[in-house]
Amino acid sequence: MKFSSYFWILFFLFKSISGFDLNPDDRDSVYNGIDTVTKGMLNYYNPSSHTFTAYWWMTGSSLNGMLNTYSGTKNSTNMKLITDALLANKGENNDFAPNSEKFDLGNDDQGIWGLTGMSAAEINFNDNETETSWAALAQAVLNEMSSRWDNSTCNGGIRWQIYTFNQGYDYKNTISNGALFQLAARLARYTHNDTYVDLARKVWDWSVGVGFVDLDSYAVYDGSNTASNCSTVTNEQWSYTTGVYLAGTAFLYNYTNGTSEWKDHLDGLLNRSLTHFFNEDKIIYEPSCETSNSCNYDQTAFKGMLARYLSYTMQLAPYTSETIMSYLHASAKAAAKACSGGYDAVTCGNRWTWNNGTWDNNYGLGEQLSALEVIQSVLTPQYTTLLSLDTGARSKSNPSAGQDTQVNYSVPAATKSDKGWAGFLTAFFSLIFLLFSIWLFF
Ligand SMILES: *[C@@H]1O[C@H](CO)[C@@H](O)[C@H](O)[C@H]1NC(C)=O
Ligand SMILES: *[C@@H]1O[C@H](CO)[C@@H](O)[C@H](O)[C@H]1NC(C)=O
Ligand SMILES: *[C@@H]1O[C@H](CO)[C@@H](O)[C@H](O)[C@H]1NC(C)=O
Ligand SMILES: *[C@@H]1O[C@H](CO)[C@@H](O)[C@H](O)[C@H]1NC(C)=O
Ligand SMILES: *[C@@H]1O[C@H](CO)[C@@H](O)[C@H](O)[C@H]1NC(C)=O
Ligand SMILES: *[C@@H]1O[C@H](CO)[C@@H](O)[C@H](O)[C@H]1NC(C)=O
Ligand SMILES: *[C@@H]1O[C@H](CO)[C@@H](O)[C@H](O)[C@H]1NC(C)=O
Ligand SMILES: *[C@@H]1O[C@H](CO)[C@@H](O)[C@H](O)[C@H]1NC(C)=O
Ligand SMILES: *[C@@H]1O[C@H](CO)[C@@H](O)[C@H](O)[C@H]1NC(C)=O
Ligand SMILES: *[C@@H]1O[C@H](CO)[C@@H](O)[C@H](O)[C@H]1NC(C)=O
Repeated sequence: MKFSSYFWILFFLFKSISGFDLNPDDRDSVYNGIDTVTKGMLNYYNPSSHTFTAYWWMTGSSLNGMLNTYSGTKNSTNMKLITDALLANKGENNDFAPNSEKFDLGNDDQGIWGLTGMSAAEINFNDNETETSWAALAQAVLNEMSSRWDNSTCNGGIRWQIYTFNQGYDYKNTISNGALFQLAARLARYTHNDTYVDLARKVWDWSVGVGFVDLDSYAVYDGSNTASNCSTVTNEQWSYTTGVYLAGTAFLYNYTNGTSEWKDHLDGLLNRSLTHFFNEDKIIYEPSCETSNSCNYDQTAFKGMLARYLSYTMQLAPYTSETIMSYLHASAKAAAKACSGGYDAVTCGNRWTWNNGTWDNNYGLGEQLSALEVIQSVLTPQYTTLLSLDTGARSKSNPSAGQDTQVNYSVPAATKSDKGWAGFLTAFFSLIFLLFSIWLFF
């Protein structure tokens, strides 16, 4: 038989084993689903570097997913892994900006890690073995990000990139500003310090004023170039940017005891999330890249993050639970069906709306993380209550964390060549992809 025949026999053999059926109403079925997709996710974990083999922000987001697993299941199996990884990546200045990432770090990357720190604080995650305060890490991130507020163009906002020499320094975007908004909202609720509400409102007002958040449709657009003074906003919309603002409004809604100001925005963003990022069968998807099957490595993780933010919304604004839950149930079932690829026959695909629940031949950390967040979000009612300092949170507040950290933003001549890093990463992931494909079929 020719090689190609073996290939296709193997291929269909694997494909015929369909992923797993998930019953969102049965706790054991959901736990099994979580175990299965987590196992696949941890294939990408490198215990010696305490990072996932992917862009650095995805390690931060994956750890947030695993913190949510812990919150939902109280299963302590991965507690040490998560703790070690948080501590290994917190950086020399306790601000989630380690020297190793120094010339690559964007505001969005640091912001996503800051939100992960916040998640650890809000559930009193294992802080017994360390002096490090998860909340203070988040505060350091917030202080550094807000110090980068930049009035020189677009009437304010923070830029995508931190360093002048990185591509994207001339772009202001919603994921960076939205992460700052959500972080401020969560710290307001966590510390009961209204200064954070003022900051959240400043970011919100700016995002609306510059046209990144459209109050008519509640569409959240990706961003704009500083060269145009933000006069031309891109049409692109991503699930996680809508989600990052949505959860921010939910924290503020909850902290302000349900004021209509934040309820109106919450309702608008929730409606937008459910109508734009779910199909008619209530299955979550990423319209900007899934319809053309062109999602890049990062983008496969976005819808899982929207699910995470919908879960917070249910917790903080319980009146939304019933509606959101029906979308999450449908999506969790679809995700499980699409986790039916690869050698193990439970590798998750990217497009769950694809062909009535089969694997679409895509795989990666983002696919696993998205499946994890969507599947576990059906457990939201049994998540640990999101704590604040006045309701029993132990992680100590340090409002001035990160304020003395000196950062030199100008170009160090010797590292200008680091621009080539992006090219290297692309090549690196292509190689991983190739090796994984070989492993997958033999
Ligand atoms: C906890 O997680 C581990 C690893 O995923 C799994 O083997 C075990 O069954 C889980 N235990 C419970 C009680 O869910
Ligand atoms: C950490 O300490 C608290 C009490 O301060 C205790 O309730 C909790 O169970 C401990 N957690 C672990 C993982 O030891
Ligand atoms: C930026 O402008 C706002 C008002 O638009 C003002 O409150 C703030 O102080 C300015 N910040 C800086 C750093 O100039
Ligand atoms: C940039 O836009 C802001 C309003 O968003 C305006 O106040 C400012 O004057 C503009 N700057 C330039 C250089 O056009
Ligand atoms: C919300 O309500 C609680 C209890 O009634 C009160 O202590 C708190 O000050 C209120 N918070 C705000 C921001 O109004
Ligand atoms: C979104 O809002 C529109 C217009 O108010 C409404 O018809 C629709 O039912 C809402 N959809 C969801 C999912 O909330
Ligand atoms: C705030 O969140 C808590 C759960 O964390 C919930 O019990 C409470 O009802 C929420 N408040 C409002 C106004 O919905
Ligand atoms: C989709 O799959 C389900 C079972 O998983 C089956 O009942 C249904 O008929 C299928 N629909 C189509 C259009 O193939
Ligand atoms: C509230 O937060 C602000 C900003 O971080 C800080 O300057 C201030 O000291 C905090 N206030 C309290 C009472 O912690
Ligand atoms: C920042 O770095 C540049 C290039 O390495 C150097 O010339 C400059 O003196 C540094 N600035 C400060 C304030 O350290």
